[in-house]
Amino acid sequence: MSLTFDVRRNPTPASEERRAAIHANPGFGVFFTDHMVRAVWTRSGGWGDGRVEPYGPIQLMPSAAVLHYAQEIFEGLKAYRHADGSVWSFRPEANAERMQRSARRLALPELPTEDFLGSLRALLAVDEPWVPPAGTGETSLYLRPFVFASEAFLGVRPANEVTYCLIASPAGAYFSGGLKPVTLWISQHYARAGAGGTGAAKTGGNYASSLAGQLEGIEHGCDQAVFLDSSTQTYIEELGGMNLFFVTRDNRLVTPELTGTILEGVTRSSILELAKDLGLDPEERRIPIEEWKEGVASGEIREVFACGTAAVVTPVGELRWEGGSAPSTAGESGGEVTNAIRSALLDVQYGRSEDTHGWLTRLA
Ligand code: COI
Repeated sequence: MSLTFDVRRNPTPASEERRAAIHANPGFGVFFTDHMVRAVWTRSGGWGDGRVEPYGPIQLMPSAAVLHYAQEIFEGLKAYRHADGSVWSFRPEANAERMQRSARRLALPELPTEDFLGSLRALLAVDEPWVPPAGTGETSLYLRPFVFASEAFLGVRPANEVTYCLIASPAGAYFSGGLKPVTLWISQHYARAGAGGTGAAKTGGNYASSLAGQLEGIEHGCDQAVFLDSSTQTYIEELGGMNLFFVTRDNRLVTPELTGTILEGVTRSSILELAKDLGLDPEERRIPIEEWKEGVASGEIREVFACGTAAVVTPVGELRWEGGSAPSTAGESGGEVTNAIRSALLDVQYGRSEDTHGWLTRLA
């Protein structure tokens, strides 16, 4: 039986003026809507106690397993308002299924797809006015589902009590500089994930382990770090929060193949499908970091970009490493192919072009 969500309305919701002020300048991940969804799973009873309740602090025992052993997963997707006022999300089933795969890797219970989608609809039923108005550029409502071990127990084993939450946050551009190419640092001392580890799962630990590399990059004047395979330090993996793509001189669109250590990005897989519509030849394979350095020098690599739900498609500029750098191929605001892919994705998401792949699901 599918989960139901009892609604307990926030007695002090934000005023219309406050919401409008947030929509005018949402930033990323700073402001949150009036409500959240919560459900609890127990080993004996399965999923239950679904509710929509006022957004606010979660009470946890200091011994809650997630705080000690990081048994946690999350997702990220967006709700977009179309010109007719309707609200849509982009391939939410793909997020639901990825959350199930992440759950299996982290020994957490799987939330069925219909309950994942049900929770999105339940939250949007009360917080729909928080989806930014159409025609305000690239603003959307970022949806953050997450699952964590809430059982108060310090033994190391899969938790017997787990909590699912969904929160939502109006979002503008992920990078505060707007659509400016990001400079990348090759992380040679720190890996993000290793063979057999949790790299393909969307779990907080992967993001935590990317931070030291990112800090090192910032110390070298870069915006983000690019991680290499931990076994040989040879092959390009991802940025920690985004997948990478290369556009070649002969219109191939090349991205690191999924090896189990890379996040299976929904934006990544959508771009691989869109590539064909745009006359590009998609290619998934292992890409040595040397190929990037040499390809920029020889002109074989025309453009590099990063992608993810939050930042959509972001041009990549200069690549730096200890003792060297490769110049940007991105110009002031990204190459032609990068921007064509970015527009093609956004046009589908905001309902400005036909959804020929059947990627949109109406939420409100
Ligand atoms: C995404 O863009 O999907 C990400 O994973 C970035 C997010 C963790 C802020």
